[in-house]
Amino acid sequence: MNKQSELDYRFDTRVAVQYDALRGHPPAVSVEIGTAIADTMSANAAVLELGVGTGRIALPVAAAGCRVVGIDSSAHMLAALSQRLKSDGLDNIDLAQGDITALPFREGVFDGAMAIHVLHLVSDWAGVLKQVSRLVRPGGTLVLGRDWVDPESFSGMIRNYFRKTVVEVGTEMMPPGATAAAPPSGGAAIFKTLIALGAKPEGQGEQIGAEWQTKLTPRQVLDGIRSRDDAESWVLPDDVLAETMRRLDAFAADKWADLDAPQPVTRRFMMGVFRFAND
Ligand SMILES: C[S@@+](CC[C@H](N)C(=O)[O-])C[C@H]1O[C@@H](n2cnc3c(N)ncnc32)[C@H](O)[C@@H]1O
Repeated sequence: MNKQSELDYRFDTRVAVQYDALRGHPPAVSVEIGTAIADTMSANAAVLELGVGTGRIALPVAAAGCRVVGIDSSAHMLAALSQRLKSDGLDNIDLAQGDITALPFREGVFDGAMAIHVLHLVSDWAGVLKQVSRLVRPGGTLVLGRDWVDPESFSGMIRNYFRKTVVEVGTEMMPPGATAAAPPSGGAAIFKTLIALGAKPEGQGEQIGAEWQTKLTPRQVLDGIRSRDDAESWVLPDDVLAETMRRLDAFAADKWADLDAPQPVTRRFMMGVFRFAND
C-alpha cells in the first residue's frame, strides 16, 4: 500500500509540546528513575545523555545529583527542556544542539552516559556506541533505558496488534536509517556491539528501574493511537493509519465487551547497565 520506505520521526514543535504529556512519568516514578540511574554512576558523575529530548530522564537524574550534559538535534525539544530548566531551577544540566553521530566532546570527559529511546532512530547506532566508549572514562557506566508496558495487559495486546498490523499494512516501512546493510538497533545487536567495545553488562540482563500501575480503558488506548497522540502513530502516513485503525478497532471490539471499562496496566522503566573496562 504505502511505498514510503522510511518513517518520519521529526521531533518538531507539535511533538515537543506533546511529548511530556504523552510520555512523561508520574512525578514519584520520575524521582525513582532518576535515583536508579544515578545509583549506577559514581558520586557527582558527569553524565552525557544522547537525545536528551525534553529532559524527561535528564531532569530527575540531575535532581539525583549527577551533572548532565544533554545533546539533541531538535531545537524544539531543547527549547522545551530549557523552559523546564528555568522553572525547575536546576543548574547542573548543560545542553548542546548536535547530532549524536558526531559527538563534539573530548575523550574520557564523562563518568557515564545514557541513551533512552534514541538509538533506534540512528542508522549508525554502532558508531555512536563506539564514540561513547571513548568519551566515557575507563570504568565508567552506560545506561540504556526504555519504557515497558506489560505485554499481557490489554494495553500491551493493543500495542502488539498495532505494530503487527502496521507492518502488514505499510509493508515497506522500516525505522529511520535502517537498511538491509545496517539493520535496526535491537537488544541483542547492541549487546554484542558493547561487548566488542569492551563493556561488561552488570547483573543478569536488564534491571527494573521503576515499576508502577496505571488504569486505562481500551478506548483511551485506541483513541490515543488514532489521534496520533503516540510516538508510534504520529509518523504514519494517513492511509496506513486509517487501515491500521480499521483492523485494530475490529480486533478490540472482538476482544473486549466494554471498551470503556478501566483496566490495570503494569508499566516499568527498564535499564541495561554496562561498565566500560578499566585501563
Ligand atoms: C524519543 S525521544 C527520547 C528523548 C529522551 N531520551 C526521553 O527518553 O525522553 C528521541 C530524541 O532523540 C533526538 N534525536 C533523534 N536522532 C538524533 C540524532 N541523530 N542526534 C541527536 N538527537 C537525536 C530527538 O530529537 C528526540 O529528542
